[in-house]
Amino acid sequence: MVMIGASILSANYGHMAEEVRRAEEAKVDFFHVDIMDGHFVPNLSMGLKVPEYLQDITHGTKIDVHLMVENPDIFIPKIAEASDMVSFHAEATKFLFRTVDLIADNGAKPIVALNPSTSISNIEYVLENLYGVLIMTVEPGFSGQSFINPMLKKIDKLKNLILTEGYDTKIFVDGGINTTTAPKVVEAGADALIAASAIYGKDDVVKAVQDLRASANF
Ligand code: DX5
Ligand code: ZN
Repeated sequence: MVMIGASILSANYGHMAEEVRRAEEAKVDFFHVDIMDGHFVPNLSMGLKVPEYLQDITHGTKIDVHLMVENPDIFIPKIAEASDMVSFHAEATKFLFRTVDLIADNGAKPIVALNPSTSISNIEYVLENLYGVLIMTVEPGFSGQSFINPMLKKIDKLKNLILTEGYDTKIFVDGGINTTTAPKVVEAGADALIAASAIYGKDDVVKAVQDLRASANF
């Protein structure tokens, strides 16, 4: 079963408890929290306290934080404490092993995110230490963008590498995921799909999650 994560970036921030409730009713596997600093990406989003607030209003659904920030090490201890999974960008830090260890030492599962143009060779040696790789299928920073097609090749290549090496690293895919792109990324090897507009951009969130799940588990 492919996991589905609801990205709260497109949720209504004034009614977050209700937005969380609707996604939990649809049994999403995790919530995805996009934290942006205005430097690594040209946008600002949520602050460091959001995972903690989410913990208070969720009912056991896992929390996955996506750090789109420069110097992720500064924020990781506080973020990891209130999250199940934490991803940072390979492009944002020089010392990947150190940052991965920092996440694990603070009790969360480490995930490395890659911008669309970043090659998977950058994470070849750290791959076995990771819970997951987050393949960005749009340029990070905004929801509602179109899926970048050559990323299917990248997912396929990463899946082959993971299988050849015998690792159990999971492939997360983030950006432009909808009922059309979901089956393609799953076929290429994705284990978890993250969606903002395909879930919170719809009036019926429960149906949106069901449709996405059905398209991904064909
Ligand atoms: C983009 C974020 C994504 C975003 C996805 O920078 O990392 O998580 O919320 O939005 P959609 O699903 O609308 O492409
Ligand atoms: Zn994200």
